[in-house]
Amino acid sequence: MDFKNSYEDDSYAAAYARLEFPGTYYLAFRDLPEILATHVAGAKALDFGCGAGRSTRFLVSLGFDAIGVDIAEEMISAAQALSPAGDYRLIASGDLGQFADDTFDLVLSTFTFDNIPTREAKIALFGELTRVLTSRGRIVNLVSAPEIYHYEWASFSTSDFPENQRAKCGDQVRIIVTALDDQRPVIDVIWPDEAYRDVYSASGLEVIDVHRPLGHSDETCDWVNEMTIPPWVIYVLRKA
Ligand SMILES: C[S@@+](CC[C@H](N)C(=O)[O-])C[C@H]1O[C@@H](n2cnc3c(N)ncnc32)[C@H](O)[C@@H]1O
Repeated sequence: MDFKNSYEDDSYAAAYARLEFPGTYYLAFRDLPEILATHVAGAKALDFGCGAGRSTRFLVSLGFDAIGVDIAEEMISAAQALSPAGDYRLIASGDLGQFADDTFDLVLSTFTFDNIPTREAKIALFGELTRVLTSRGRIVNLVSAPEIYHYEWASFSTSDFPENQRAKCGDQVRIIVTALDDQRPVIDVIWPDEAYRDVYSASGLEVIDVHRPLGHSDETCDWVNEMTIPPWVIYVLRKA
């Protein structure tokens, strides 16, 4: 089945541009500063699938010299409007040819691989991301756990989509970001842990850390399932 990138849409991009780090998104980003401080040496960063620049601004706030790239013109325009001084670049899918080999100490990808439909496409993209990574560089790939599409969350709902329960690796699933003004479902692709590990190995990457953040009772968020079921998986990768 063809895959349509939900983010190539003016009104969705405008809604996404207003999104910061509420609820379940807070959990995605909460532990990243420590993970990056532990694993990354150097400041040159590529934010792969930067969207409206939220993750790029996050990197800049941590002191990284970050460039954001995305295939959605609507999202890149929103990012540039929010941070005129930011470095955002519209690319064709998989085309990182403007960057030399061994350029980045860090490639961060937050949620982007949820939108890459096939094993072949994922391997091709990781091949390019590996090429532009320095020899000591790290790829940090933050993705949705399959369980996010099965349950309810502080910032997401999937109860309208019971077919998600039967989805297998590579199947399309739908999810509503309740934290957004735009309540149209986003289409993602289910990709379990073992399938990611297969893709990393086929891309010449080694997994050096995996983190599955859980909510804590002393946090101000109204957690739904976040304290018992991890909605996100954060992989730290290096060249094998
Ligand atoms: C869920 S958004 C996340 C945006 C941003 N990283 C954040 O955390 O706010 C995913 C983004 O990945 C982008 N994307 C999808 N496929 C891509 C590809 N092949 N190359 C680059 N970006 C892609 C989409 O256009 C979208 O803006």
